[in-house]
Amino acid sequence: MKTVDVSAAAAAEAVPVPARCSKGAWVSTMAQYKTMYDKSIMSPDAFFSEQAKKMLTWMHPYDAVMSGGFAEGDVAWFPGGRLNVSANCLDRHPADRVAIIWEGDEPTDVRHVTYGEALRETCRMANALLAAGVQKGDRVAIYMPMVPEAAYAMLACTRIGAIHSVVFAGFSAEALRARIVDAQCKVVITADQGLRGGKVIPLKATVDEALHHDDCTCVSRVLVHRRTGRPVPMKEHRDEFLDAACGKQRPVCPAVPMDAEEPLFLLYTSGSTGKPKGVMHTTGGYLLWAAMTHHYVFDYRQGDVYACVADIGWVTGHSYIVYGPLANGGTTLMFESLPTYPNASRYWDMVERHKITQFYTAPTAIRALMKAGSEPVKKHDRSSLRVLGSVGEPINPEAWKWYFEEVGDKQCAIVDTFWQTETGGHVLTGLPGCTPMKPGAASLPFFGVQPVVLDPATGAEMSGNGVEGVLAIGRPWPGLARSIYGDHGRYLETYMKPYPHFYFTGDGCRRDEEGYFWITGRVDDVLNVSGHRLGTAEVESALVTHPACVEAAVVGVPHDIKGVGIFAYCILADGYEESAELVGELKGAVRTHIGGIATPEAIVCVPGLPKTRSGKIMRRILRKIACDESDALGDTSTLADPAIVQILIDKVAQAK
Ligand code: PRX
Repeated sequence: MKTVDVSAAAAAEAVPVPARCSKGAWVSTMAQYKTMYDKSIMSPDAFFSEQAKKMLTWMHPYDAVMSGGFAEGDVAWFPGGRLNVSANCLDRHPADRVAIIWEGDEPTDVRHVTYGEALRETCRMANALLAAGVQKGDRVAIYMPMVPEAAYAMLACTRIGAIHSVVFAGFSAEALRARIVDAQCKVVITADQGLRGGKVIPLKATVDEALHHDDCTCVSRVLVHRRTGRPVPMKEHRDEFLDAACGKQRPVCPAVPMDAEEPLFLLYTSGSTGKPKGVMHTTGGYLLWAAMTHHYVFDYRQGDVYACVADIGWVTGHSYIVYGPLANGGTTLMFESLPTYPNASRYWDMVERHKITQFYTAPTAIRALMKAGSEPVKKHDRSSLRVLGSVGEPINPEAWKWYFEEVGDKQCAIVDTFWQTETGGHVLTGLPGCTPMKPGAASLPFFGVQPVVLDPATGAEMSGNGVEGVLAIGRPWPGLARSIYGDHGRYLETYMKPYPHFYFTGDGCRRDEEGYFWITGRVDDVLNVSGHRLGTAEVESALVTHPACVEAAVVGVPHDIKGVGIFAYCILADGYEESAELVGELKGAVRTHIGGIATPEAIVCVPGLPKTRSGKIMRRILRKIACDESDALGDTSTLADPAIVQILIDKVAQAK
């Protein structure tokens, strides 16, 4: 069994870990990392069994550590073992310790929730779900703002064995409906309204619109948290305020023993087809992965105040706001607002007020804040910070440098964590106490992860360092998603079949001369817009719902804040003329079908698209034209109509 060649890494031109980060760290030297990594690969059963016993509390011991494999998609971690996620995240920690620091939209709106309070509220909500007829295995949709009640809702589901499906509160009614219908959710938990940057988000109204559809008949109960307390329409026999529903319930609810392989949650994410897929995670392996990665990658120590400013609507919020930190008995911050509200100091003001030790965000936020300069950072005391995390997309070296020097005063370790909804938690990352840092590199594998670089054309594994290809993973790790809800075939097709014997990430990657991994971006039709994952086909399907658009093709173009921006080409139906108004309507169609995050930066109306003779759109050409690189189009002779290329070049030039 091969392990990673990291021996040279420490000697590289990399930035050394600040001494204060190594001191007392769980992993404080590269030799220790290497010893642990080698054990995790050579003796995975012993390694993960030890971790599973140390990190989690089991109600019934497991029969084996791991069984199954990629080929059939029958991977099982800790089969036969039973545990409950909410019991691991709440009951076993001291009741008077602060579990959640909630920072609302206004900086003055702060709550400290203890483990005791979180447990009681979770139990009340679990009982309210039982009263609403929710049984083990039923699906519950959560469409909530960033409030502690959202975490209780997730944990309440896990307490009774219900499967939650959190839908990001920025998704439209259409997108919410599609996710509710696909999972056949029985209950929706939402809020009257959300608040973000002083703006009201009409959550309950959006839920009403989603449920209004004829095909959305599965939902029998909507529980509504009062966030703003303003009146919202309530449908008789279906809707109930959460405070009323929970107020009737005892704050005690037995935690149901769940088999380690029973489903824990679904999280819909974009793939290369139009239909988002419900990525399914199971109980034991996922929780261990969230807990272990949170413990080692953020070097979480008791007494630390850890802050991940993502949203629970994404996997980052699941693993690193809720499950990882709470499984470890940590104090986790939940942030309701925006990085720039009321001003560009917000994050650093929070760091100072709450004495945050670990801070985890996305490069897009760093780039947006860089624009405001260093003054908003410098006026706040950030000496509590020890670890700065980055996630969601490659971090460009300028943003890395700013994060390291301006935010961290060169005193913090940066962990650039590469992972995906499907990986459950980090798979490539540095460790803050030991890994020399290379700006922009996702660095090295986490324990138990065996990354491989494959030749995209032949699928052959590229051995040695200094190679570039696509990134795959050679053996199952506990956090691996186990299926796509209701479509195991699609799961196998997407991840396991492209390169047999490997899990395929969909990302390109380079392994440098010293064994460090650098993610070069998606190699499929998935875009990372501001760290949010969107499928080109999804945006195209939204555009063609407008009667004016008969065909659309979407590509990603570099964007200085978002990382990637959406550029759309639309063919108009007969009788429609291109106009600013029509472009506005087409953008509106995307907002309606997906949500504001998917709005194209630019829409250009064109008479045709570059297609091969077999009808396949050549996106490579569209991308080059959109990026003003039409002098590097490459071979266009295989196009059915090569003349279309010049027409598109002229149209895009006109539009710019
Ligand atoms: O392309 C990679 C990028 O985000 C994708 C996964 O998106 P999602 O499932 O929404 O999860 C985002 C949060 C984990 C990956 O396929 N990505 C994520 N983290 C990084 C990254 N690309 C480069 N560097 C990263 N640190």
